[in-house]
Amino acid sequence: MIIFNSAEKLKNHLNELRSQGNTIGFAPTMGALHQGHISLIAIAKAQCDVVVCSIFVNPTQFNDLKDLDKYPRTLEADTALLESANCDILFAPEINEIYSAEELLLKQENKEDKSWMQGKNVDFGMMDKVMEGALRPGHFNGVAQVVSKLFRIVNPHKAFFGQKDFQQLSIIRSMVNQLELPIEIVACPIVRETDGLAMSSRNIRITPEEREMVPYIYKTLVAVSAIYLYSNIINIKKLVAGAFEETGIFELEYFELVDADTLQPIEDFKSAKSVVACVAVKLKNVRLIDNIVLY
Ligand code: PAF
Repeated sequence: MIIFNSAEKLKNHLNELRSQGNTIGFAPTMGALHQGHISLIAIAKAQCDVVVCSIFVNPTQFNDLKDLDKYPRTLEADTALLESANCDILFAPEINEIYSAEELLLKQENKEDKSWMQGKNVDFGMMDKVMEGALRPGHFNGVAQVVSKLFRIVNPHKAFFGQKDFQQLSIIRSMVNQLELPIEIVACPIVRETDGLAMSSRNIRITPEEREMVPYIYKTLVAVSAIYLYSNIINIKKLVAGAFEETGIFELEYFELVDADTLQPIEDFKSAKSVVACVAVKLKNVRLIDNIVLY
């Protein structure tokens, strides 16, 4: 695996590979890699000649600076994991390779930077106003900002994202369409521990007592997928809220049944082509999200 810290050097190297007819696959990450990320590399390897993984903890997508500080940084272990997954290239830039001083200043002043749109008026409509977007203002602007920058450096044929961040995936798809980037976005299945817990870099913050309880999140989603045909939205929401409350350890931030295309809460099961149940819960030191596609 070749490691690049410089965006310019990576660009030159990839231009060379592209000119030789190689297809480039790209999996952007913030590191603290686990088997979920490794599955992205494996899927990318199966579909592309050269696979690039980036590790960059992106400050502009964090609302809370404490969360940014606490974000695990495990570059050495991540590098070893990527090597063993036969990843071809790791891009691990310093912050000044990605952001100018002006862009970082805007972040410090809590202002949303729109310069990544490069003159286009990218508008996510209501897609970034619900769920994660409602609770973390500016988060998706930060994600779109960094992903568009990384796309401009790597210029991949295909980019691979986990379906665990369902809303992020939809927003990146919409961004790629609106910026008219010639990149195929590939959605990759959620990878779970054997007891159902969705893999996440944040799982290392779960306490041992909480670890016993967290499979409950996926179990609840599976239960929803089993009963939704025989119930209605109001009852399902009541049941889910009650189920989390009863445990005494989860604070339910949201549970939504959303249209998979628009991400807007559905009014009934007949009106949407595809529906996803999305959940976010808070524990003592960590918040976890998960989802299940109902149909
Ligand atoms: O999903 C993530 O790890 C991040 O949001 C991403 C896509 C790498 C952008 O920083």
